[in-house]
Amino acid sequence: MGNLADKQIIVGVTGGIAAYKTAELVRQLRRAGAQVRVVMTAAAQAFVTPLSFQALSGHRVYCDMLDTEHESAMGHIELARWAHCLLIAPASADFIARIAHGHANDLLSTLCLATPADLFIAPAMNQQMWRNAAVQDNIDILKKRNLRILGPAEGEQACGDTGPGRMQEPFELLEALSLASASESPLQDCKVLITAGPTQEPIDPVRFISNRSSGKMGYALAQAMRDRGAQVVLVSGPVSRPPPPGIDVIAVRTAEEMYQAVIQALAGVNIFIGSAAVADYTPAQQYAEKIKKNGSVLELDLRPTKDILGSVATSAAPPFTVGFAAETTQLEKYARGKLENKQIDMIAANQVGTGRGGFYSDENSLLVIWKGGSQVFAMQNKVSLAQRLADLIVERYDEHKISGSL
Ligand code: PMT
Repeated sequence: MGNLADKQIIVGVTGGIAAYKTAELVRQLRRAGAQVRVVMTAAAQAFVTPLSFQALSGHRVYCDMLDTEHESAMGHIELARWAHCLLIAPASADFIARIAHGHANDLLSTLCLATPADLFIAPAMNQQMWRNAAVQDNIDILKKRNLRILGPAEGEQACGDTGPGRMQEPFELLEALSLASASESPLQDCKVLITAGPTQEPIDPVRFISNRSSGKMGYALAQAMRDRGAQVVLVSGPVSRPPPPGIDVIAVRTAEEMYQAVIQALAGVNIFIGSAAVADYTPAQQYAEKIKKNGSVLELDLRPTKDILGSVATSAAPPFTVGFAAETTQLEKYARGKLENKQIDMIAANQVGTGRGGFYSDENSLLVIWKGGSQVFAMQNKVSLAQRLADLIVERYDEHKISGSL
């Protein structure tokens, strides 16, 4: 992870209820050793006062373009040059529109145009606004200009809605800035292929066999690998998650489709991570019409699916291969068995069915095992867990390269 000590960071605050979380972010940035200057729009000041940010950042807060006192101390152009990075958090739909279209009608939008620093945007808005085509078009414009879009996260919103639009948590934003400040991206020039989510195995036109995987773990991992500079391809089963920015997503439904997509995308892949909950069995026959209830026992013939992970690990030029193991009992024993039988390099085992962590939950814990070592990651948010696991994968991958295993 990068070091934020002495990094010069402008935190731009726009109008949104999430501005209260930015106060905590500023505190955490200073704790990490960063020098922080806060710039607020007029709308932001309706949510949090400049005085709060002044106390937390240790400096006067910049609010006006034409402030003679500020301009005589550190003018806006000087401030724009001072920054190593500029993070807008929260970034409202209005502010996103303004910078997408090059407006410079207040201090913060002017700084965005005038700074050579890396720009990061942490959107925060109502889920319907976030989904609006106008907002998405503006986000696309910013992505094309290589601005980094952090989030938004999904969940319950201040307005009572549930969905994408929550500002990422301060620790996630801190982590993203920290990673970006790393002098090198450890996975630059690396291609990473990840599977995520469940598969659906059709029985008839309306029924299928599936599981409770939400894709949270796999999507968080895909983002963590992207943050480390990798080119990431994500083969995803059906989930209700937006495609993460900067990642190629291949949508599949069945285990067979996932297998085909993985095999087709495998050329040139350096690291493969199988986090998907792939069905082990699929109906031998798919009924063309809806099966009618007739009161007697219905028997379904199931046949095994292809083992995607095992096939990747035993392919002609296998990448560094990481599997997952979801177990209800004897976690370590079964995980070690899978590590060996599937001939993979590393396995991340999670206990499932305990009511905490595993499928669908926002949090998880992992026992990660590789030949010659293991590490436990305690129960935590899947986003931070993915960051920890990504660091470990990078470490083990480098080790393999050095020892000539790849
Ligand atoms: O998606 P979330 O809601 O966030 O939940 C995350 C998770 C619990 C799904 C995830 O952490 C996890 O454990 N994923 C693997 C689930 C699983 O299918 O485990 P398994 O022990 O049955 O399979 C072992 C490994 O073989 C897995 O890497 C799996 O992707 C792979 N596999 C399984 C069957 C198959 N036909 N092909 C495979 O590649």
